Amino acid sequence: MKIGIDKIGFYAPHLYLDMKKLAAARNIDPDKFTIGIGQEKMALPPVTQDSVTLAANAALNMLSEKDKQAIDFVIFGTESGIDNSKSAGVYVHHLLGINPRARTVEVKQACYGATAGIQMAKGHIALNPDSKVLVLASDIARYGLNTGGESTQGAGAVALLVSKDPQIMALEDTSTYMTSDIMDFWRPIYSDKAFVDGKFSNEQYIAFFSQVWANYKEKTGHSIKDFEALCFHLPYTKMGLKALRTIFDEGSEEDKERLFDNYQHSARYNRVVGNIYTGSLYLSLLSLLENKQNLKAGSRIGLFSYGSGAVGEFFTGILQPGYREHLQMEHHTKLFEARQEVSVEEYEQIFEETLPVDGSTIELDIEKDPAAICLAGLENNKRQYINKVN
Ligand code: HMG
Repeated sequence: MKIGIDKIGFYAPHLYLDMKKLAAARNIDPDKFTIGIGQEKMALPPVTQDSVTLAANAALNMLSEKDKQAIDFVIFGTESGIDNSKSAGVYVHHLLGINPRARTVEVKQACYGATAGIQMAKGHIALNPDSKVLVLASDIARYGLNTGGESTQGAGAVALLVSKDPQIMALEDTSTYMTSDIMDFWRPIYSDKAFVDGKFSNEQYIAFFSQVWANYKEKTGHSIKDFEALCFHLPYTKMGLKALRTIFDEGSEEDKERLFDNYQHSARYNRVVGNIYTGSLYLSLLSLLENKQNLKAGSRIGLFSYGSGAVGEFFTGILQPGYREHLQMEHHTKLFEARQEVSVEEYEQIFEETLPVDGSTIELDIEKDPAAICLAGLENNKRQYINKVN
């Protein structure tokens, strides 16, 4: 039985910051951000968007009534959770009107959480072939104003519907993975900003990729020539390219050109969104599928997932016949076109606008946020969500 990605949806908040303007404000050569880091724009969440609303907005246009009845498992991968007890997925389950006969959980391991979710979904469907699983990957990457990580912030979510006989990509069975207890990036419970050892995190990302890629080749006998494209977790778009370059000499000039060209397509959305942690790898896959016109059905795509701390996995999928007809290209194009630029001053103000943590009641101005699903306020320590289309 084929199991894999049946539908894929994306959402980013409606505000963005131009990286060249951020560079100017920080007295940095703009080429460092646009070429050295490889980022053009950074998605910025207003206070009315959190990991719950981003995920719900990503899934909203993608699910049919039939899907909502068939989904019996919601898996929410995030490292921007809003509660240490209740899963963010339970809110999304309600906001989207998914039938009550479903399991819902939140999964955490830095940017790797949604990949764990996909593998759990695959196992669930193998046992329950008529089920559909909604896997959500939603995050807000915050390092802080004027920090080394500032240029690699972002916000957004990807929603994946996993099922048998998938319309977009069938996942293959072999994957290779590893865990090592390292401190390259972490966020203690008391902090709303991440701590990072930037250079070490880059080194570990490459080291993990080298290891799982070597293990994959050993396990399957496949090589670089068996891949149409490789997609990477993209904390910033230069990172994946650095990893890809480490294996270029394993193939011919033609392999190198094909993988490099497809890499550029796979990084387009990420270049204008920034890091969305759990969703970054899947945004890169979506970017490849929506921006590259002529990928053939039957092509093998490799996916490298990395979550600091750290867990890494390499797995693969096969594109299905007619996959392009099942993408939501028009919807995503409109989403990107409708975004509004903010100045550096506005960005700093929005960045500092956080929710009270003392239990006080607050009503937020959701009129300024064009998203269908918003955070409307806080009352008795409870987040108040609203779905404007209901
Ligand atoms: P930095 O110190 O600001 O930058 O840190 P740099 O000095 O290393 O320069 C970056 C690149 O720009 C270099 O290129 C420079 O040469 C180049 P490279 O040598 O790397 O190819 N450069 C220029 N290029 C053109 N014109 C110029 C110019 N100047 C310099 N004028 C760093 C950068 C990414 C470390 C920092 O932003 C950071 O700490 N970010 C957060 C951590 C991160 O993203 N790590 C990635 C791997 S870990 C990961 O992916 C997991 C993560 O997503 C979290 C999770 O799992 O939950 C982060």
